[in-house]
Amino acid sequence: MEYSKLKGTYDIIPEESDFFRNIKAKVESILNISGYKKIEFPVIEKAELFIRGAGEASDIVVKKEMYTFEDRGHRMIALRPEGTASAVRLYLENSLSMQGYSSRMYYCGPMFRAENPQAGRYRQFTQYGVEYIGDEEPMVDVELIQLNSQIFKALGLKKYTIFINSIGCRECRPNYLFALKKYFEDKIDKMCADCKKRYGTNVLRILDCKEESCRAFIKNAPTGIDYLCEKCKEHFESLKNYLNNLKIPYQIDPGLVRGLDYYNRTVFEIKSELLGAQSTISAGGRYDYLIKELGGMETPASGFAFGMERLAILIEKELGRAKKDFYIPPEVYVAYIGKENLYNALEIINRLRENGITAVTEYKYSNLKKHLRTADSMKAKFALFAGEDEIKSGEYTLRNLSTGEQTTGTIEEIIKTLLSYA
Ligand code: HAM
Repeated sequence: MEYSKLKGTYDIIPEESDFFRNIKAKVESILNISGYKKIEFPVIEKAELFIRGAGEASDIVVKKEMYTFEDRGHRMIALRPEGTASAVRLYLENSLSMQGYSSRMYYCGPMFRAENPQAGRYRQFTQYGVEYIGDEEPMVDVELIQLNSQIFKALGLKKYTIFINSIGCRECRPNYLFALKKYFEDKIDKMCADCKKRYGTNVLRILDCKEESCRAFIKNAPTGIDYLCEKCKEHFESLKNYLNNLKIPYQIDPGLVRGLDYYNRTVFEIKSELLGAQSTISAGGRYDYLIKELGGMETPASGFAFGMERLAILIEKELGRAKKDFYIPPEVYVAYIGKENLYNALEIINRLRENGITAVTEYKYSNLKKHLRTADSMKAKFALFAGEDEIKSGEYTLRNLSTGEQTTGTIEEIIKTLLSYA
């Protein structure tokens, strides 16, 4: 092959597309019924939006994960690495704060990160993101966690765990960071290169290191919850109480910190062991400072996002259903016999389609054997024969291709029969 796809990207072939259609329909019906409205924003934005948004110490910036280029006007443009900063930009640019109620929004689309590709980690991936802007109540975080869980349940998933933590606010976090710095001071020399870098840029992120040798030191590090101020403690207590009362199972992970800098107070991740190294399917939390950081008024907000690719892997691992297993075959394959009957066949196809029945044929064939072979390859449910005799009499034969059972009738009768199976 002279041309092949870039590393860390993937194709969706026709047989797999019903998987994405199916998942998207389920996800969006839950989000719509919960009052979230779909928003769309460009794939390209000013790089500065993400540098300010994700933060100077975020992986996106520190690990140079952003795909950027200079345009003809010498502006630095980025392919969006995530959606929260764009959603906030959209919120501000369209004065959504003036609407008099909180913004419940969601989006779905490709995100780009120059990461080291591996199973579940791509350079172009598709994210569903959900944002709730305008309310600092812990119940907002609960609604989001519950929504996320409802989505996974609706997809048939059960084997996942919700992890929560609070990383405090501007008031209390410095004390915790100071304690962490002090704790790691005499250990950092023995830790990995990434941790050494994080010690200088964002010591909190050391807690996220997966290196075995670093984990031994991290295990005994001070926990953030012990350093929360009264208000953050209260917020976290309410969050836990609401989750308990709603019987939403969760685990507290004091080491849970996020790769993006904009979070404060509640952070959460949903993980599944079935996913291996990239075990996080979904992640999010509160970002009460980001709106002001990007030029708006101080406005509390919270949200989460999950990747479709990891979801696909999980569905395959947990439910044993690969993307191709979601393939929906055509309802009817119209086997027309004799080139002269092509127009009649097309008329039948259109009648079926108008009635919501998927109908196809192969124009290049006009012989029964080839048609039946094609119908079989497509896994069509029925074949409808349109030869000379059928067209003259107006009576057609419909064959169920899995049972071999046949029925005869006018097109109206056949449509009725087909619709009764639906
Ligand atoms: P994130 O943790 O960077 O958060 O990404 C959220 C989810 O996107 C991950 O849990 C994973 O499922 C998927 N994901 C991330 N990177 C990749 C990748 N390279 N390949 C495949 N999937 C990936 C955010 O992006 C935040 N904007 C979430 C958020 C929304 N926080 C508040 N609102």
